[in-house]
Amino acid sequence: MIKARRVRFDAGGVQSAREKKTAPDLGGRNERVAAGVCGVSTERPHDVTQCIRCSLPRGATPIGASAMSSGSAESAPPPRVLVVIGVSGCGKSTVAALLAGRYGWPFEEGDSLHPQSNVDKMHAGHPLTDEDRKPWLEKVALWIEHQLDAGRNGVITCSALKRSYRSTLNRRGRGVLFVYLAGDVDTIAARLALRHGHFMPPALLQSQFDSLEEPQPDEPAIRVDIGPPPEQLVQSVIDKLRLQG
Ligand SMILES: Nc1ncnc2c1ncn2[C@@H]1O[C@H](COP(=O)(O)OP(=O)(O)OP(=O)(O)O)[C@@H](O)[C@H]1O
Ligand SMILES: [Mg+2]
Repeated sequence: MIKARRVRFDAGGVQSAREKKTAPDLGGRNERVAAGVCGVSTERPHDVTQCIRCSLPRGATPIGASAMSSGSAESAPPPRVLVVIGVSGCGKSTVAALLAGRYGWPFEEGDSLHPQSNVDKMHAGHPLTDEDRKPWLEKVALWIEHQLDAGRNGVITCSALKRSYRSTLNRRGRGVLFVYLAGDVDTIAARLALRHGHFMPPALLQSQFDSLEEPQPDEPAIRVDIGPPPEQLVQSVIDKLRLQG
């Protein structure tokens, strides 16, 4: 069984414990968490760390509340998994970890779900074929569905460069929202050159752009330009999700 992981703020220095302690309280969320009750919804006391409403400022519209809720105003919105996508080095891990931290949602690195045969192939410098990716995409899809079936939100990274890959991840046609981090090859190459512990030859990065099929308007996706710093990017994702409803 695939287990959901909780995001850790110390990973990669994304957010220090001190920053977390002093993070601004979103409209009383901290007190609600401490009290174990949700001050936004009218539901009975519940696990506020899993509550989409508790993650938002008092009175704010929860993500997906209008678009995905089928019940009355008092029923909880259905869970949603954000899949942070884009070419290697666009910032998926950085942005996804911060997003998961802001919402308090389970977080998974899609790359960690590759079968060993794919890992070995990549280490040997061979590009993966669509056939190689099938079992991996299946595992990512299962992680997403596991969250949704448990009534949990979640955040997962996955390059999902091709439309057909995204169709696999969203095969149920609901509960998934792709967060596409868009950037140009020069910006990303410059960031990768500074990244420690990962080597990405320029030719391999170009091959990612060659494979990329950007999400189209008929796909459940939002697009964010990767120019601004990570915290600002995350805020603009949250703003877009609120606007989208
Ligand atoms: N908005 C940003 N501004 C500046 N640097 C960034 C930004 N987002 C990420 N970075 C930096 O860019 C590098 C690549 O980011 P990250 O590792 O998150 O990308 P990724 O898409 O997860 O890559 P991969 O697909 O290889 O796992 C890292 O060194 C990270 O610190
Ligand atoms: Mg990554």
